[in-house]
Formats: sequence, structure tokens, C-alpha cells
Amino acid sequence: MTVLIVGAGKHAQVVADILLRMRERDEAVDPVGYLDDDPSLAGRKFLGLPVLGATGDFGKLAHDAVVVAVGSNAIRRRLFDQLRQAGERLFTARHPQAVVAPDVVLGDGTVVCAGVVVNTGSAVGANVILNTSCSVDHHNRIGDHVHIAPGVHLGGEVVVDEGALVGIGALVTPRRRVGAWSIVGAGLLVHHDVPAGVKTVGAAARVIGARRERDGA
Ligand SMILES: CC(C)(COP(=O)(O)OP(=O)(O)OC[C@H]1O[C@@H](n2cnc3c(N)ncnc32)[C@H](O)[C@@H]1OP(=O)(O)O)[C@@H](O)C(=O)NCCC(=O)NCCS
Repeated sequence: MTVLIVGAGKHAQVVADILLRMRERDEAVDPVGYLDDDPSLAGRKFLGLPVLGATGDFGKLAHDAVVVAVGSNAIRRRLFDQLRQAGERLFTARHPQAVVAPDVVLGDGTVVCAGVVVNTGSAVGANVILNTSCSVDHHNRIGDHVHIAPGVHLGGEVVVDEGALVGIGALVTPRRRVGAWSIVGAGLLVHHDVPAGVKTVGAAARVIGARRERDGA
């Protein structure tokens, strides 16, 4: 299956690498090149694949499927919706070194990077980025257009609603919910629900009581 990569920036090159590694493993995928609206990228090559035109040029080029490879959740959603409305097939890219439980459904156009683990009972929406070495534990619900950044760990039964970004290295404790289009700042520990449409920072070491010396609790 020939695949056009929509975007040619740094994240797109990571996606290209995933597709090339899938091809190495004899999976039926053949990346043909990138589409990007930055005219300075026209004709350039990244990982041996050429920039073939602008994002609107997909109709002029032979291909079987597309994958949107843009980091911004809002821009990725806009491109995804345009392509889906045009009847395009959205390719789901999964690095061969990702571990995804067999019952997990990955939505259309979702990208799963190297070192990712997704455990049983989880559902991952469309156009999601599960970035390098993040883990999505059991029975999570990950909405469409979400980005789970590198090194994030989500406990069991976590819900991340549409369009949210969980920043690099964040930890989300079990059964918490991150609201739609919110941002969890890099490195945070989330042990309360995060409402929709907000940005969060802070990792205070809050005193919660005296330590009992004898049992160490
Ligand atoms: C949370 C975030 C969105 C805030 O960005 P912003 O709105 O531009 O805010 P600013 O950078 O102006 O920072 C505002 C304040 O929050 C603090 N802050 C920002 N991010 C923080 C974080 N992750 N943890 C703790 N404090 C943080 C800043 O130090 C600043 O504090 P100050 O006002 O006392 O100086 C951003 O810092 C972040 O963490 N983004 C996630 C990035 C990421 O992981 N992307 C995925 C890459 S693959």
C-alpha cells in the first residue's frame, strides 16, 4: 500500500522512519513522499523520501492512503478532517518495536512510535500520536487527535479526551481524566482530574501528614 505523508517537519520524519521500518519488516506499506505547505521544502528529501508538493496536492499524486504527520493537535485535526471528507484512507502507522495488546483497537491515522506499550482493554482513537516510549496501561480511553508525548505513563483506566496533549514525561495516576483540548505540562504528576480546555503546570511536594518513624509509612 503506497502512503503519502502529510507534513514534512521533524515529526513527519519520525513517521517516515516508522513507515520505512514497517516496510523493512515486509508489512504491506510503501511510503512515497511528503506533502507540505512550506515552499522552502519543495524538492527536498528526508530519509530518502521527496517532498512532492503542498498538502492540497494529494489528489494529483498516485497513492493508496495518507497519514497526517503534524505535531499540533489542532492542525492535525483540520488536515485529518479535510482528507477524510475527500474520501482518503487514513493509514495507521505502528513501529515494529511497539507492544500493543491484541485486543486494542487503534483508530484511523494514528501513529504509534518506537518503544510504546499499550495494554489490554484500552481503546485509542483516530489521528492520535502515541509518542516514543510512552505507556498506556490497561482499560484506557484515548480520544481522537490526542498527543501522548514521549515518556508519558498513564495508569490503568485513564481517560484522555479529544485533542488533549499530555506533555513529555508526565505521569497520570489510575482512573484520572484529562479533559478535551487541555495540556498537561511536561513532567507533571496528575493525580486529580484535569478539566477541559486548560493548561496545567506545577509539581508541588505538598505535606500530607507526619511520617511514623517506626514503620516508615
Ligand atoms: C505547560 C505549557 C503548555 C506551558 O506553556 P506556556 O503557556 O507557553 O507557558 P510558559 O512557558 O510561559 O510558562 C508559564 C509559567 O509556567 C511554568 N511552566 C511551564 N511549563 C511548566 C512545566 N511543565 N512544569 C512546571 N512549570 C512550568 C513556567 O516556568 C512559567 O513560570 P513563571 O511564570 O513562574 O516563569 C508548556 O510549558 C509545556 O509543558 N508543554 C508541553 C510540551 C510537550 O511536552 N510537548 C510534546 C513534545 S513531543
